[in-house]
Amino acid sequence: MSAALQSQAPEPADFRKAMGSFAAGVTVVTACHEGRLVGTTVSAFSSVSMDPPLVMVCLKRDSRTLAAVKPAERFCVNILAREQGDLAYRFAKSGADDRFALTAVEAGVCGAPLLAGCVTAIECALHAVHDGGDHEILVGRVLRVTTDETKAPLVYVRGGFLDT
Ligand SMILES: Cc1cc2nc3c(=O)[nH]c(=O)nc-3n(C[C@H](O)[C@H](O)[C@H](O)COP(=O)(O)O)c2cc1C
Repeated sequence: MSAALQSQAPEPADFRKAMGSFAAGVTVVTACHEGRLVGTTVSAFSSVSMDPPLVMVCLKRDSRTLAAVKPAERFCVNILAREQGDLAYRFAKSGADDRFALTAVEAGVCGAPLLAGCVTAIECALHAVHDGGDHEILVGRVLRVTTDETKAPLVYVRGGFLDT
């Protein structure tokens, strides 16, 4: 990268603030690896392609969920409902807590757990892994979607959940 471009790089706090103004849905990405359930809260999620149906999530390089998704080669993107803010924080908390302890799950077609009460579950086979700086970009080929249209999605903006 040239010196001119480098000098325009934003301060981390400014970059965080700028990205925080983009309202995003909130998901919990889950997987099952060697019989162990893993999952973490992820707002960096997007659709990628209609044909074939592809989605992407970005997980930081030291994520334990990332470390399990790659060998499992399957994952589920659970899109959280408006009333699931506490679940978003539980699946973001670091430490040894059993994040699944208070949550009903069902096994999906790909082995990754579906969380009860979510708006949508998107079950995926791992299609590609790309470099994303301090994150990795996981592209998933969608195997099955399950949606509850009666539920409103949780929205994350400016560091908090939108009270809708
Ligand atoms: C609302 C919200 C959104 C988040 N989005 C992401 C994300 O897109 N990617 C990511 O790697 N971490 C994200 N996190 C942070 C992770 O959930 C957190 O670092 C977690 O402890 C990682 O767990 P793991 O190491 O077990 O995978 C988010 C946290 C919150 C509360």
